[in-house]
This record gives sequence, structure tokens and C-alpha cells, in this order.
Amino acid sequence: MATIGELLAGATSRLRASGSETARLDAELLLGHAVGADRTAIVAHRDAPVGADAAARFEESVRRREAGEPVAYIRGIKEFHGLAFGVDRRALIPRPETEALVDAALAEVMTRLGRRVADADPVRVADVGTGSGAIAVALAVALRGRRVELARDVTILATERSAEALDLARENAVAHAAADGMRFVDADLLPPVLPDGGAPLDVVLANLPYVQSDAIAGLPVAASFEPREALDGGPDGLEVVRALLELLPDVLATDGVALFEIGADQGEAAPTAVDELLPSWRSSVSADLAGLPRVLRIERPPVT
Ligand SMILES: C[S@@+](CC[C@H](N)C(=O)[O-])C[C@H]1O[C@@H](n2cnc3c(N)ncnc32)[C@H](O)[C@@H]1O
Repeated sequence: MATIGELLAGATSRLRASGSETARLDAELLLGHAVGADRTAIVAHRDAPVGADAAARFEESVRRREAGEPVAYIRGIKEFHGLAFGVDRRALIPRPETEALVDAALAEVMTRLGRRVADADPVRVADVGTGSGAIAVALAVALRGRRVELARDVTILATERSAEALDLARENAVAHAAADGMRFVDADLLPPVLPDGGAPLDVVLANLPYVQSDAIAGLPVAASFEPREALDGGPDGLEVVRALLELLPDVLATDGVALFEIGADQGEAAPTAVDELLPSWRSSVSADLAGLPRVLRIERPPVT
């Protein structure tokens, strides 16, 4: 019977040869998945034997990874904002840089709740293109952790054009007991009539596709396992973003705010798109933890 250390060594060299830049980490995560233990246990018990069934499961996982499939799809799970999200090929794997958008959204909603008078309407939030539900569900869980009562204090509308992805988002919301106060709607950006009788939105969040179409072929092979419609932002990467910008005047409350994730190379192009489509609106870009442009904030001009 092979030991953990032996299986890890063999898989690490195979995965390195297949082009993985994180071969050792991949092998540890996949072996942990195969034996039903976390990575720390794998690292700590190198001499422990691995049973035949688990070794066969591991071999199958390593083969899939050698073919380029992302570890998250093989394990069916991805950590995001401190939570475990179910992931599969129905939706994009949530990225660590998107946590910056959740943090910005949380700060925005908490500020609004802080100045809200008793019995006022809830703060209405939308996550457009929710994919796995990562942003909407992470926000809901973070609000709950601050004793915010979803449905009464905050409502979250999660929209998606892919019905399959929307199912995954619902599953993740249920798994995190966050579905109360959330609505999942199959829509092209936003439904023609917003919930609550069309009441305007206070905070619009979006991590829409923003990769330039002709750059998709050059992405790491792992991205070829993800839905193309989750990545393809058209010729300059801002096609879907522009479509949502055009909707904002009709859906955003007078003091509403939109927060969009943008590509690291869109720190100038994205605010320019706002200037062109929404002249007189204000926009600013903030950086993620790596110091790269990441969150575009858009505000209506104040009513005079
Ligand atoms: C970059 S992925 C982000 C997914 C998720 N929000 C996240 O951060 O992990 C973009 C998502 O937007 C969805 N999408 C693209 N165009 C859309 C549209 N016109 N209306 C609604 N959703 C759209 C895609 O299906 C995909 O799930």
C-alpha cells in the first residue's frame, strides 16, 4: 500500500510536468479530497498508508488535473470570503480578487443601514451576473454576522443569464442558510420589472465578463473548463459592463451606488466608459490587496 508521501511525490512530479505551477499544492488538495481529510492532515501524516479505493480516486483526480481541469472543479469546492462554495462547470470559479468587491459592498450596505431610520424600506442590493452566487451569498453571510436581518433590513436580488449557474447560486445560498431575503432571477442583466413593485436599487454589484474576446485563447488552460459566457467581455472587454451602465439611470435610486469588478488593465478604460455613457455621474477606482485596479464605484450626480 502506498503512503501519503509516496503518492504526493509521484503526483507532484506528474502535475509539474503537465504544466501546473502549483503542482505540490494541487497534489495535497486532491489527495485530501480522495481520502476525506483536510490538507493539514495530509501534510502531517506523510507515512500513513492510503487504501486502494482512495488511491484510485486520487489517480482519477490527478489525471483530470493533468488534462488541465481546475482543482476547484475536481474537488467541487472553492473557498471564497472564508466560506466553502460548491463549484462545478455550470459557473465561473470565484476568484480571490473578487473578495474586494464583497468588502466594498459590505461597507456600503453597513453605512446605509447606519443612517437608515427605523421601519424604513430595506436596503435593496442586486448582484448582476451572480454565477455561483459567490458575491451575493458572501455578502448575505457577512451581513448576518453583523446582526443584520436579511429581508427586513436588506434584500439581495441575484440575477443570471445562465439558468444552470443560477441553480448553483441557489444551492450555495441554501447551503449557507442565506436564502431568506435573497431572490434569484433568470434575467439578461436585470429583470424588466424589479422586485417590490419596481422599487429602485440602492446598491448594484456586478462582476461581469471583462476579458477581451481575443485574449480568451491565451488564458491558462484551466479557464477553458469555465463557461465562455462568464469570461467574454467582447472586443474591448467592456461590452457587458457598458450594457449595465446604460441601465443604471433607470434602476438606481437617486443616492444609489454601483460597484463593479474590473480587470487590472481597465483602471482607465472603465471610468472612461462611465464618462461616455453617463456624463456628469462620478466614478472612482479602488485597488485590491495586490494593489491592482479592481473596484469601479459609480454614483449618480446629487439632485440639485
Ligand atoms: C465573471 S462571471 C462572475 C460570476 C460571479 N459573480 C463571481 O464573481 O464569481 C460573470 C457572470 O455573469 C453572467 N452574465 C454574463 N452576461 C450576463 C447578462 N447579460 N445578464 C446576466 N448575467 C450575465 C455569466 O453567466 C457569469 O456567470
